Amino acid sequence: MKNVIAIDGPGGAGKSTIAKLLAKKLNYLHLDTGAMYRAITLAALKEDVDFNNKKLLTKIAKKVNISFNENGEIFLNSKNVSEEIRSSKVNEHVSQTAAVKGVRDILVNKQQQLARNNKVVMDGRDITTVVLPEAEHKFFLTASLNERAKRRYEEVKSKGKNADFEEIKKSIARRDKLDSERKYSPLKQAEDAVLIDTTNLTIDEVLKKMISLIKGEF
Ligand code: DC
Repeated sequence: MKNVIAIDGPGGAGKSTIAKLLAKKLNYLHLDTGAMYRAITLAALKEDVDFNNKKLLTKIAKKVNISFNENGEIFLNSKNVSEEIRSSKVNEHVSQTAAVKGVRDILVNKQQQLARNNKVVMDGRDITTVVLPEAEHKFFLTASLNERAKRRYEEVKSKGKNADFEEIKKSIARRDKLDSERKYSPLKQAEDAVLIDTTNLTIDEVLKKMISLIKGEF
């Protein structure tokens, strides 16, 4: 699949930051699929849905309208929710939403359609394995749990909000477990995806490495 770059990895590995910069550099569209699962979660929270109710979560996924603008910002029923989807309430429930097969089927379909109609850098957990296994370039980005927690901690602090490092670390570990042990499309590295451990790399170093690989300079 030409002009399609797929990136997977656990939360906090730098996927979205890197995908965004890469898309800008290549003049591709950046699609953060985690944001889509978050938007459904936000819609469910607004309707006070019981997160064990898979049928209702699927119904919500079916009825809401999710779109992106050219800056990669996400809209839920025409409202920009790019900030709102990062709340701790959404963090708490998003793995439950993402474990529902009905929700995944709807979003995967939408993601595949977006990749057919645009040049894209798409990041998530199942992009290289399920959504776009035929992508021209596939990457698996990871980093140690400690480093990922440190990055989230600094991100929260930089927004002037209170943050507890140990709490953040626990929450990331919990989501790692839920995402990689779930029944449908668990997080795993595709055999033919290039593994990049970003623990000791700067964003710029990761980006340079990926661009060289994309351009076939290695
Ligand atoms: O990358 P993130 O933290 O925004 O992802 C939010 C949640 O959505 C996370 O629990 C994993 C899930 N997710 C998924 O199951 N499949 C994707 N393609 C992207 C995210």
